[in-house]
Amino acid sequence: MSKNKLARFAENKIFSNLFQHTDYDSYTNQFPLKGKWNELYFKNENPIILELGCGRGEYTLALSQRFPNVNVIGIDRKGARLWRGAKTAFEANMENVAFLRTGIDTISQYFAPNEVAEIWITFPDPQPKKERRRLTSPIFIERYKSILKPNAVIHLKTDSQELYHYTKQTAQLQKWTILEDMDDVYNHENIDSLLTEIQTFYEKIWIKEEKSIIYLKFKI
Ligand SMILES: C[S@@+](CC[C@H](N)C(=O)[O-])C[C@H]1O[C@@H](n2cnc3c(N)ncnc32)[C@H](O)[C@@H]1O
Repeated sequence: MSKNKLARFAENKIFSNLFQHTDYDSYTNQFPLKGKWNELYFKNENPIILELGCGRGEYTLALSQRFPNVNVIGIDRKGARLWRGAKTAFEANMENVAFLRTGIDTISQYFAPNEVAEIWITFPDPQPKKERRRLTSPIFIERYKSILKPNAVIHLKTDSQELYHYTKQTAQLQKWTILEDMDDVYNHENIDSLLTEIQTFYEKIWIKEEKSIIYLKFKI
């Protein structure tokens, strides 16, 4: 492992805004903030938004800055990437931000039913060969359902045509409601600046490669 990664992992341990699955034995200890993120961590009653597969957490940080009355939690399994977002939020004393290092498949161990108001999925791996690993597959959506409030919305930003068409088809089959559907965000009129002004690390790569950026908003 590179020195840089080891240094980031060491620093991750001092960030009070970063929770890591390795610190909790999920079989014997319940994650202490499950059902209590607002009471014990954020200390307010504001809605909780998750960014799944957040990487460096660009949306997590930007949403929390734009909307001071929401609490945003970025989730990813890669500690060296989370380090970037956690360090920025920690040093800037951003109180409505947290990061959680874990696999998204175990998300219901970290949140209680009805605890989450909204989900953003930003540039997930399209997983062309393994549907069960796609973050918009019915298997994952069932997991989200178990923690989301009724009528909660899910936002998907992606460069992958395959994932876009798969998600739309699955939405139709599963009777999820598509609320917004843009196959080229940067060639769209009257668009919410939230979709164009915040660019993630991977999004910038895909833009350089002249890929269209896609946005879907749906309700499950
Ligand atoms: C292509 S990157 C996108 C990162 C960031 N959202 C961006 O746009 O720059 C996908 C991210 O999802 C994370 N990821 C994929 N599947 C995951 C899972 N099941 N649990 C946790 N993280 C996952 C990866 O670790 C990776 O950081």
